[in-house]
Amino acid sequence: MDQRQVFDVLVIGSGAAGLTVALNVADNAKVAVLSKDKLDSGSTRWAQGGIAAVLDSEDSIKAHIADTLNAGAGLCNYSAVRHTVENSTDAINWLIEQQVQFSKDSNNEYHLTKEGGHSHRRIIHAADATGVAVSEALVGQAITHKNISLFEHRVAIDVISCEKFKIPGKGVAGAYVLNEENGHVETFRARTVVIASGGASKSYLYTSNPDGTSGDGIAMAWRAGCRIANMEFNQFHPTCLYHPQAKNFLITEAVRGEGGHLKLPNGERFMHKFDERAELAPRDIVARAIDHEMKRLGADCLYLDISHKPKEFILEHFPNIYERCLEYGIDMSKQPIPVVPAAHYTCGGIVTDQSGRTDVPNLYAVGESAHTGLHGANRLASNSLLECIVYGKSAAAHILNIIKEKNDVAFAPDWDESQVTDSDEDVVISHNWDELRRFMWDYVGIVRTDKRLLRAQHRVQLLRQEILDFYGNHKVTSDLLELRNLVEVSELIIRCAILRKESRGLHYSLSHPDLLPVAYDTVLTP
Ligand code: FAD
Ligand code: SIN
Repeated sequence: MDQRQVFDVLVIGSGAAGLTVALNVADNAKVAVLSKDKLDSGSTRWAQGGIAAVLDSEDSIKAHIADTLNAGAGLCNYSAVRHTVENSTDAINWLIEQQVQFSKDSNNEYHLTKEGGHSHRRIIHAADATGVAVSEALVGQAITHKNISLFEHRVAIDVISCEKFKIPGKGVAGAYVLNEENGHVETFRARTVVIASGGASKSYLYTSNPDGTSGDGIAMAWRAGCRIANMEFNQFHPTCLYHPQAKNFLITEAVRGEGGHLKLPNGERFMHKFDERAELAPRDIVARAIDHEMKRLGADCLYLDISHKPKEFILEHFPNIYERCLEYGIDMSKQPIPVVPAAHYTCGGIVTDQSGRTDVPNLYAVGESAHTGLHGANRLASNSLLECIVYGKSAAAHILNIIKEKNDVAFAPDWDESQVTDSDEDVVISHNWDELRRFMWDYVGIVRTDKRLLRAQHRVQLLRQEILDFYGNHKVTSDLLELRNLVEVSELIIRCAILRKESRGLHYSLSHPDLLPVAYDTVLTP
């Protein structure tokens, strides 16, 4: 990258959050968008159920706010919730303007489905592949915008914080980025940087997420001096397909919203024993109930059954899930689907305000990598894509004001590789990668104890030291960069979990089963 080229906005991530920022500033700014793989490789394309918004005359902002606060178990930031819900209709209208094709019913009205924790039908969707529709539309708009330059296979290593890299200036001056196509590290200079790099669920052995969700942006922001909050709240989705050949395949919550039942191996329903809302209780409750029943029975999986509905109904609502299950020999119109919980969503992240600003000047964070306070201790289903759009737009509005000032951007020295060699022991990377994700699953999973958390902390500290030594002595590769970030975010998750001396929302500890009377965020300061 030519160091003479300065972008107004450098966006790290091409999912719903990053592209919303890019498209909302691009008429007045020069924008670079990076993706560490293909443009649609993040979680956005994988989204199934849909996007929550107040779209029905029977529904109300008050009800959506109440449901979000209720799922969040007393820890949501009220003004973040209000900001998001009040802007939900606008966010959906903006997506429709970008040509997202949402499903309609026989009256040509948008079809709204239901998911756990929602008191109304309010999930707008594109059958069971909402993420594909959103991703294709936003990528399509970005590709054709003359002010947006898109860079695939570029892995951001670190944002260039003037303070941390000891260069003159304030805030950030861009990012160091590995060009995977030629192995060189490039310097992207920019007036503002937006971290939109998604979540960190890859810290766990079993996850619904695609491969790149290694918490890169959260780790980068931490290294740059930002506060990180509430990392203990990792959401486990109750129903991922259980099959030896199926990797990371989610069975959308909308299957339960449209009448699917959770069953034990003997065919009995059980959710009513855990919550009066049964299958439509919030996710933390359903995932914990499944985990409890699996452990009690020593079962490898439980079952999700919608075979009592007509086949045409199943095909209309869940065409992709039907096909995918059939590939594995499961006909969901005739038999129950084997399911298990898996790590799904990072509720905590980089502390931001309502405009996506972090603690470091000119550095923003949006989407799953940010902590806005919307989700509290447990995210309400389908509020995530909504947050990406609402906060993407608010961050864009703020950035447009900042870049009017046309301040100089500091020159950062080029990346120095003179002291490092090629790795001759890649087994260190693959071994540590497996070990980390396995102990995170075993010790920092759905049910925690003080003893397990301390064990995990001990191991993560040893691994972190080993990985940082390796990083300091070898040329960077994408696997090494992801591992360095994974160990960083895993340590943050463990630290937050140890600090929380209660059970709230997604954080359930046998050592501290009660809820404390006052809700507090777990904020880590670098
Ligand atoms: P992502 O879409 O994950 O995009 C991250 C981007 O950052 C990618 O382009 C990636 O390449 C890039 N990136 C990451 N690290 C780097 C780096 N170091 N350098 C350069 N680029 C980098 N939410 C809902 O609201 N409704 C749903 O129905 C729904 N269903 C889901 C189903 C599944 C299977 C999954 C996994 C998630 C689902 N979610 C859903 C959650 C939602 O999809 C995500 O939270 C949301 O898409 C996150 O968007 P994002 O833009 O923040 O990040
Ligand atoms: C799903 O479709 O079940 C996922 C929805 C979400 O993660 O919000």
